[in-house]
Amino acid sequence: MLNIIKVKDEQLFNETGAGIIASLLQSNPRAILGLATGSTPVGVYQKLIELHREGVVSFKQASSYNLDEYIGLAEDHPESYRRFMNEKLFNHIDILPENTHVPSGTAEDPAKAAADYNRLLENAGQIDLQLLGLGHNGHIGFNEPSGELQGPTHIVELDARTRQANARFFASIDEVPTHAITMGIGSILQAKQILLMAKGEDKAEIVARALKGPITTQCPASFLQTHPNVVVVLDQAAGGLV
Ligand code: GLP
Repeated sequence: MLNIIKVKDEQLFNETGAGIIASLLQSNPRAILGLATGSTPVGVYQKLIELHREGVVSFKQASSYNLDEYIGLAEDHPESYRRFMNEKLFNHIDILPENTHVPSGTAEDPAKAAADYNRLLENAGQIDLQLLGLGHNGHIGFNEPSGELQGPTHIVELDARTRQANARFFASIDEVPTHAITMGIGSILQAKQILLMAKGEDKAEIVARALKGPITTQCPASFLQTHPNVVVVLDQAAGGLV
């Protein structure tokens, strides 16, 4: 079931996302969070940091599992998702570093790293809340449109459009990794609750395809329509067509 919330500005967008995460932690301090990178959740993380500083929320007993990581970027590379998470959230809250998990992008054997991460997820138990952004081509995590989708964590080749969209963070497009390790659609859909967030006019069309279009591997986010508990937070621009 999709519960769509449209908010009027960026501040409310961030407050709504952070509020959902904070109230989960208040009722279940040991919550298992599935976290995402990209520009969409940055303001949500800032708001969570504020709530933490105000004493409203603690992550001390919580744990987190991130969706994805670029293959070939070391943890301390400025664009690695591990570094992103440390800088945008983990370093500013009381989550224990050993309770934060991001797939490894530098393993000698990436396929084994994917299998290891998948085992880690299975042993962790069900994710209580999975936060998701949305790629322009309908990807979630790095599950790119394709003739078939994979359930568990796996290695993917990134779409030209995805690499182009993410090139703004790198010196040039040649530096954007060609592959990534990502939780699969199966792992994502296993979460108890999913929080999908999108903002900006450039997302309006894909938001409509994902939420109202046919369920197809050509739009991986469309599989969210099959999940029993999805909250979608959109700003006016991204929600313009739904
Ligand atoms: C990235 C990430 C996704 C993210 C998406 C949208 O490539 N792998 O997890 O949701 O693209 O990014 P943004 O929020 O910057 O639009």
